[in-house]
Amino acid sequence: MSSIIESAGKRLTQEERFEKARTLIFPTPAEASARLAAEVADLIRARQAEGRTAVLGLATGSTPVPFYRELVRLHKEEGLSFRNVISFNLDEYCGLERDHRESYFSFMQDQLFAHVDMPPENVHVPDGTLPVDEVYDYCREYERKIEEAGGIDLQILGIGRTGHIGFNEPGSTRDSQTRMITLDRVTRQDAAADFLGEANVPRFAITMGVGTILAARSLVLMAWGENKAEIVHSAVEGTVTDQVSASFLQEHPNATFLVDTAAASQLTRSCRPWLVRSVTWDEELEKRSVVWLATTLDKPVLKLVDEEYNENGVGELLTEQGPSYDINIRVFNQLQHTITGWPGGKKGSDDTNRPERAQPYPKRVVIFSPEPQDAVTSMGGTIHRLVDQGHQVTIVYQTSGSLRVSDVAARKFSSVILEMGEVLGDEGWKSQTSYAASIIAQLDEKGEFGIDPENVRRLKGLILRGEARDASKVFGAGDSTNLFVDMPFYEKGRYRRFHLTDDDVAIVKKVLERIEPHQIFATGSAADPSSVQALCFTALRSSLEQLKEQSWLGNCFVWLYRGRDKRVDSHEIDMAVPMSPDQLALKMDAVRKFQSIGREELSTADQNREIAKNYDSLGMAEYEAIEAFQRWRP
Ligand code: F6R
Repeated sequence: MSSIIESAGKRLTQEERFEKARTLIFPTPAEASARLAAEVADLIRARQAEGRTAVLGLATGSTPVPFYRELVRLHKEEGLSFRNVISFNLDEYCGLERDHRESYFSFMQDQLFAHVDMPPENVHVPDGTLPVDEVYDYCREYERKIEEAGGIDLQILGIGRTGHIGFNEPGSTRDSQTRMITLDRVTRQDAAADFLGEANVPRFAITMGVGTILAARSLVLMAWGENKAEIVHSAVEGTVTDQVSASFLQEHPNATFLVDTAAASQLTRSCRPWLVRSVTWDEELEKRSVVWLATTLDKPVLKLVDEEYNENGVGELLTEQGPSYDINIRVFNQLQHTITGWPGGKKGSDDTNRPERAQPYPKRVVIFSPEPQDAVTSMGGTIHRLVDQGHQVTIVYQTSGSLRVSDVAARKFSSVILEMGEVLGDEGWKSQTSYAASIIAQLDEKGEFGIDPENVRRLKGLILRGEARDASKVFGAGDSTNLFVDMPFYEKGRYRRFHLTDDDVAIVKKVLERIEPHQIFATGSAADPSSVQALCFTALRSSLEQLKEQSWLGNCFVWLYRGRDKRVDSHEIDMAVPMSPDQLALKMDAVRKFQSIGREELSTADQNREIAKNYDSLGMAEYEAIEAFQRWRP
């Protein structure tokens, strides 16, 4: 494969013809990051040999974490020295002290600088603590320092869902320079988990400008996960506009988008390959292209005609498999057969055209919930049916979810205990009251932004456990349904910087070995690969890999449900479980039990309704709401 850093003069292939910037797709973030790190190491060494410096522009956020890990490994294991490296970071939040755990200065220390031999005077991260009236001059000085260092050789970038590079939110002009900006709402929502609530996310930041960034000799923009797929598509295939800062990379002679398969999934070559190359038409591709055609033309599948296939680039399918009516019927049936009210299989029925097998019945079903609310939010209606239809359901709550629980909930719980102690005035309450008082003291001491001490985290985890039990009761599930395993990666980590270990995998494996399920439900590779959901899925995948010789696994179907932020397209659905208005209301009743985390979850009902609406538009029956699943063959 060609170099990532050096893209100048490379021509786009036929397959890439919709792409206006060079884009390299790797199977995983780890592989892409390792390749980039190896090239950066070559650059640094080449400069060392010439007695010159290498000037790097650096980014923060979850995206570059695997890249920095690899650089640190190269330093520790392969002797790569950073003595001749000068760095300039893109941005910093305003109003955070440098040692605040969410400042980009701390981030860079944690991820890179503290682990390599870069001279501290070579490190530049914008200072977010300055009084406003000093910021302008400071920014000019930052630009001057970049020039003095000889300009940036390689600028590393991530991309926000608003299309920002650095913190150049929509509206930032092509020539903008280093300056103070107001963060976009979407950007602040994306940072909300790090700051334990959107209200705590700073409103302002200092960022290099688009012009500053484009002045670098080469640029590499990394993006991972489906969360980024839509914005990567706009930046790479859309028009150049200041509404998507990353689109300006199209105009740079040496810029590369480095993405994983999921972030590339909305590029034409990935989602409509028939438009850029000749494809082998299998069932999956036929379904995908016909659903796309029907959706684009806003027509039910059965009404599509030959001309519409031809005029919209699906003529090859028509020639090979047509006429259109035959194709339409085939796809209609495929879609129709995904719909079932029997997610665990229908006892005694012919299951040839059903998503699940009739036998065995009842089934042992394991449902993995990365954070406690995930399973109910994403598949509450289906849990209800599985319980109702007599299957042996176990919901495995993989993490405690404690980081999501608000201080208010912990304080409320402790205050009730304190008051109970007072009201009863009984000696027997002494230890409980002192426990509650200590929690309140710890909450006061750590303040809004502080890290929860272990005791507080444990209490928060227990509050969520209670809520998870209440939610499962709504579906008539007994207490034995709930299994809390508190995977250690979560208990020891924090958002965006979790680190999965063998201990986590072992826990999942043990559960599966004990239950030997016939059916597993889990969130698939989530929209954001650094998320709790993605790590929990990785743990499942690794444990299934270790168990692959076990005979029960050959008889086990794995179903993936969609995580919170992930859209589901009709062509991707292998099992669609419909809900009536009453069933949806019951599900929402269960979702609302998760009071201590509040917020966002109510969009669940809208998502379920949207899936049903999309099916309806394709010509399927009109349901109130649908929960969707994909079959996964490990
Ligand atoms: C951070 C930065 C931002 C991030 C972007 C993506 O220094 O410049 O543009 O790259 O917000 O953030 P993550 O990687 O967390 O998805």
